[in-house]
Amino acid sequence: MSIIEKAANRIGKSVAPPAPLAQVRTQAVEPSAHEPAGGSQDTAVAERPQAGAPGLRQAEQAPGDGPAGDLSTPAPARPEPARRPGRVIELDLARMNESGLVTAAGGRTNLVEDFRIIKRPLIKRAFAPRKPNANPGNLIMITSSLPGEGKTFTSINLAMSIAMELDHTVLLVDADVARPSVLRTLGLPAQRGLMDILLDEHLDMSDVMLRTNVNTLSILPAGTSNPRATELLASQAMTSLVREIAERYPDRIVIFDSPPLLLTSEAHVLASHMGQIVVVVESEKTTQHAVKEALHQLEGCSNVNLVYNKSRELNTSSKYDYHYG
Ligand SMILES: Nc1ncnc2c1ncn2[C@@H]1O[C@H](COP(=O)(O)OP(=O)(O)OP(=O)(O)O)[C@@H](O)[C@H]1O
Ligand SMILES: [Mg+2]
Repeated sequence: MSIIEKAANRIGKSVAPPAPLAQVRTQAVEPSAHEPAGGSQDTAVAERPQAGAPGLRQAEQAPGDGPAGDLSTPAPARPEPARRPGRVIELDLARMNESGLVTAAGGRTNLVEDFRIIKRPLIKRAFAPRKPNANPGNLIMITSSLPGEGKTFTSINLAMSIAMELDHTVLLVDADVARPSVLRTLGLPAQRGLMDILLDEHLDMSDVMLRTNVNTLSILPAGTSNPRATELLASQAMTSLVREIAERYPDRIVIFDSPPLLLTSEAHVLASHMGQIVVVVESEKTTQHAVKEALHQLEGCSNVNLVYNKSRELNTSSKYDYHYG
């Protein structure tokens, strides 16, 4: 039995057992990666300055950025905005590599291998035929019980790992709006994003979406900080926005870096819109009780999976055993 299976078994039988995906081993980080990230002067990100929008430039809209596809559940009517070009920002792939994140340049590391295992069943489900009224499988929420267990680390690495495939494009959404950290982890300064769209109906997703130098990866940042952030995440406006994302990007994998489940109820509301959910469990830290509570919050959600993160143990005989229900 792999350590992932053991971990899943320890969770107990009082909740529907989730499907363990795989383990992510603890990553060694180069010393230089400890430098402060995201500061306006210290940022290691190569940016493309442009008057009026430091670090960003206007770009042609990508073919996949426009409205496309039909969903069985129509989104409530929103005023149709004039199409505006997206913006491009440059990820510093060398810095990401030093920080222990997945990049195409990083070669075949343990981390790349771990995420290769994790992404396979998620991709398969993302575009599998779905039952009527089921949530779109390409909407994938990354959550955990409590802060610090590796949600952002998993979200970014999963997004990069999938984006490295020729056939798939990825939208990474920073939905942890109370404690956003996707851009900071990437060494980028904060940008307008999700919060701004929710608060300003004249703002379109394409106004705040960041395209990146990884052609197949776009980012929707959390946006301007707001005291009502968590409340907004559970709002009707957010429900409409998630539907809109599903409608516009039926051919993309959309990864939501989300808040922890046990601190607020908003993560639970967000989960109800997702086609797949990944619960990050921190090795030797997340308690059995916390995982059980998190899974209770997800009752009724389909395709709940566990990722066992920061694992030091390596069972070589069944290193990548995983099962998918
Ligand atoms: N597999 C791993 N190996 C090494 N370091 C890791 C791993 N997973 C996460 N970390 C580190 O653990 C810390 C917490 O990770 P992360 O920010 O992803 O957690 P989080 O769940 O998103 O936290 P929060 O709830 O505060 O948003 C970070 O410093 C991250 O780099
Ligand atoms: Mg986080």
